Amino acid sequence: MASLKLPKIGLGTMLARSEKAKQGLIKGIQIGFRFLDTAQLYFNEKTVGEAIKESGVPRDEFIIATKLFINNLKPKRVFSSTERSLNRLGLDVIDVLYLHWPWRFDKVDETLKAMSKLVDEGKISHIAVSNYTPQQVDKALEVCDKHIIANQVEMHPWLQQKELLAHHKSKKVKVVAYNPLLHGRFKQVPELLEIAEKHKIGPAQVSLAWIMAKGAIPIPKSANEQHLKENYESRKIKLDSKDLKLLDSIEKEKRFLSPPFISPPDWR
Ligand SMILES: NC(=O)c1ccc[n+]([C@@H]2O[C@H](COP(=O)([O-])OP(=O)(O)OC[C@H]3O[C@@H](n4cnc5c(N)ncnc54)[C@H](OP(=O)(O)O)[C@@H]3O)[C@@H](O)[C@H]2O)c1
Repeated sequence: MASLKLPKIGLGTMLARSEKAKQGLIKGIQIGFRFLDTAQLYFNEKTVGEAIKESGVPRDEFIIATKLFINNLKPKRVFSSTERSLNRLGLDVIDVLYLHWPWRFDKVDETLKAMSKLVDEGKISHIAVSNYTPQQVDKALEVCDKHIIANQVEMHPWLQQKELLAHHKSKKVKVVAYNPLLHGRFKQVPELLEIAEKHKIGPAQVSLAWIMAKGAIPIPKSANEQHLKENYESRKIKLDSKDLKLLDSIEKEKRFLSPPFISPPDWR
């Protein structure tokens, strides 16, 4: 399994299903986004696949990630549902296949074995997980014969994931940050507004730049051209040590996504 260099920022696609949403994705690709994040659950793999094709950008420039949903974790379904994802995306290979949630975790070795076979067969290039705790990542690393390249988790200034970041760094597991703009609520964070005002940049950009400074990869979602541009440009923003200190010191904690039954027990 060749190593994978992920870009500094990716593009979220949740809820992007319509023709209008597809045009938004194409805009995002034209602006420069190459790391696209979808999931079987989003029912938009076909839209994402069409956006890739219609953008005219060569396939090998993209890193396309999708996620196995919790009803597809038995080995047979890992194979059949990945085949369906490939068909919907119109791709020969998926670059990153995540386990979407730590569901059926007691049998994770079986699921990972099937995913490893998909790597051997050339259907997927890399295995990753999402919404896993550090302990669950350790178990996945232990039982899988391929490296777990990333864990996609909620991360923003109100959910800083300090322990998880330190743990994953030591294990060479990348952190991909979802809800990097607090699902659109970033203007409620006074520290983001203060730093944005100081540097004459957008508060959304401050949140994204802070996540990148922490070594994680944000995947903001936007259907708005101006926002897409701002978000992509945020990879060039360097926050100073005072800004970082202020954001790092935020004590408020808020997790926006914690669905009952499928979230890890320590989140409840
Ligand atoms: N693994 C998981 O379990 C999981 C869970 C949730 C999400 N995700 C992934 O993470 C992606 C991002 O999360 P999210 O979509 O929930 O939330 P988000 O990216 O934190 O926020 C999206 C919201 O912010 C707005 N926005 C984006 N850029 C902006 C800007 N520069 N200025 C002002 N507003 C801006 C968007 O509206 P506009 O369209 O108007 O810009 C949208 O309402 C998802 O699309 C999905 O791919 C994964």
